[in-house]
Amino acid sequence: MRAPLNNFGLRQLGVLAGTGSLLLACTGCGSVKHDPNPNVIAGKQEFVSKCGSCHTLARAGTKGIVGPNLDEAFRASIAEGLERSTIRSVVHGQVLEPNPIGAMPKNLVTGSSLEDVAAYVAYAADRPGQDTGLLAAAVKAPGAGKPAVEQNGKLQIDADPTGQLAYVTNKATATAGAVTITMGNMSGVTHNLAIQSGTGASGPVLGATKIITKGAATASFNLKPGTYTFFCQVPGHRQAGMEGQLTVK
Ligand code: HEC
Repeated sequence: MRAPLNNFGLRQLGVLAGTGSLLLACTGCGSVKHDPNPNVIAGKQEFVSKCGSCHTLARAGTKGIVGPNLDEAFRASIAEGLERSTIRSVVHGQVLEPNPIGAMPKNLVTGSSLEDVAAYVAYAADRPGQDTGLLAAAVKAPGAGKPAVEQNGKLQIDADPTGQLAYVTNKATATAGAVTITMGNMSGVTHNLAIQSGTGASGPVLGATKIITKGAATASFNLKPGTYTFFCQVPGHRQAGMEGQLTVK
């Protein structure tokens, strides 16, 4: 006979992540009654916008590094036969009661959105392969928008509004001379935009906008013809792919 969730021992839950955080997170999570019909498509979208800037989850395409990698966090337990319904409860409990001294804010999602997010993470965590069908289409590929083109000395390169660690495009072009770059940021995730000479991460950084969470920030440059990289200086964001190429002719 299978042990009901609320008999799930703390020791077993502790195995999940090898950290103490889940012990705190999951006090009482076994008593939650879950929505039998969660919307995992909405859950994926919410996860990308509310969680992905801090957590890596391969199927969601997120690469945040502030919090634990959620594929790795559940890997050992899944291999040991942990039910995905239990992962759902753990995620649910973590969002309701994150470690109070940790970096994860409380109540990032609530109500049915929380049901959806927990169900999606439980489905996706450490599951080989890629999402298909409607789940695959739920979130667009980061940076795939059409290239940004400078006009009259102004170039607009916005941060991804859904919260992915990306700009809306990873390509931009400008003519040589004075260029003012504006980064709009509607995501609620902290970003800026810096310009570096050349490709790769070796050239000098020529300047950057302020780091903002919402609104728009600008920076002005005098650019010679050549290839430049634009990227976000918030720790972890460039490594997650938040960069693109600016070609100046
Ligand atoms: C600002 C960064 C941040 C955001 C946003 C965030 N988390 Fe976290 N998360 C963390 C950190 C840091 C931890 C590590 C322990 C703690 O603070 O509770 C964590 C821990 C977790 C854990 C436990 C994993 C383990 O190994 O202990 C889960 C599950 C989790 N988060 C899910 C989510 C979900 C779902 C969302 C979105 C609703 C989310 N997180 C949003 C930073 C974040």
